Amino acid sequence: MSHQHTANTTLAVIPAIGARLPELVALRHDLHAHPELAFAETRTADRVAAFLEAQGIETHRGLAETGVVGVLRSGGGERSIGLRADMDALPIQEQNLFPHRSRHEGRMHACGHDGHTAMLLAAAQYLAATGNFNGTVYFIFQPAEETVGGARVMIEEGLLERFPMHRVFGMHNWPGLPAGQFAVHAGPVMASADTFDITLRGHGAHAAMPHQGRDPVVAAAQLVSALQGIVSRALDPLDSAVLSITRLHADGGAYNVIPEQATLSGTVRAFRPEVQDSIEAAMERICNGVASAHGVQIGLDYQRGYPPTVNTAAEAEACRRVLLDLVGESGVNDGMRPSMGAEDFAYLVRERPGCYVWIGNGSGEGGCMLHNPHYDFNDQVLGLGASYWVKLAETLLS
Ligand code: NI
Repeated sequence: MSHQHTANTTLAVIPAIGARLPELVALRHDLHAHPELAFAETRTADRVAAFLEAQGIETHRGLAETGVVGVLRSGGGERSIGLRADMDALPIQEQNLFPHRSRHEGRMHACGHDGHTAMLLAAAQYLAATGNFNGTVYFIFQPAEETVGGARVMIEEGLLERFPMHRVFGMHNWPGLPAGQFAVHAGPVMASADTFDITLRGHGAHAAMPHQGRDPVVAAAQLVSALQGIVSRALDPLDSAVLSITRLHADGGAYNVIPEQATLSGTVRAFRPEVQDSIEAAMERICNGVASAHGVQIGLDYQRGYPPTVNTAAEAEACRRVLLDLVGESGVNDGMRPSMGAEDFAYLVRERPGCYVWIGNGSGEGGCMLHNPHYDFNDQVLGLGASYWVKLAETLLS
């Protein structure tokens, strides 16, 4: 995989962080080689806690099983910020052959959380050594960003009461955004991620005598089409949303058997809770209508997942100013649209004002998108990301 580099990836790096880059890369590679899944990030958490303690940072463990929080105070100021990195890996078999590839069968850092963890540790090291801020920085290392919502669990277990931060900040690498660039959005940046399961119960019959049964397969086929009308007909055209059916199952067990049951599942993404409500209500209406039309029973189980990640305007502007200072106009990409992907930082920025930015991972060829078995975090931006965290803390707590 190749990355597009710009001068900014090195020019903007704080010299003391740049000087330790080889150690930072080694740390990132070690984390990459030892990926751990949701709530099982024990080795990673051990490394994180040991690193923080070695900098003299007050370190707390055990929130959401493997979560780690570092507390760093300087100057006696009242203001406080939380900087968050995620630590978990994915159940993917790594296809890379480089020396730091995963040592664990079927587990891989395919979303760059190894890089996120390393960047926040480097920032903590620098801020602990220099103390050039007035207030409190909470370094949040959370488990289980992928699908399970480790941030939500940390909040439920008292993160914001035990560590009363006024504002929260997150950062994720973004393949396709050139290395040396950042993107910051005022307002929505990532979508909500709900899931649904629909069960259709008919009556099985001989396939040659369908009138003696109630065919759930034909009803399911209509349901698939009808549900696609929600986004185009039931929502304000200025709202963004997507409804994808990702699983469709019916099996009579033989060519000549109409099955008793069909099931389908999928996901709904949106940027506003009101849109989630509208979609759920429309799905309920359509399920009832198709059920009545076909004489089958249809049950909808709609589960709310991650909420949308919505940056607050003042914090997005503050991040933008820090980034303009760090990498200049050419380093802040205004052309990036929000993503319909989801992110559990949403739970934090729902509770406190804050902002989640993207750091360019480079325009690699082909297989380096997130969650791809050839993905790797771009070491060229480790120093830059760490420098952003430092400048953000020093600016907001000046
Ligand atoms: Ni991720």
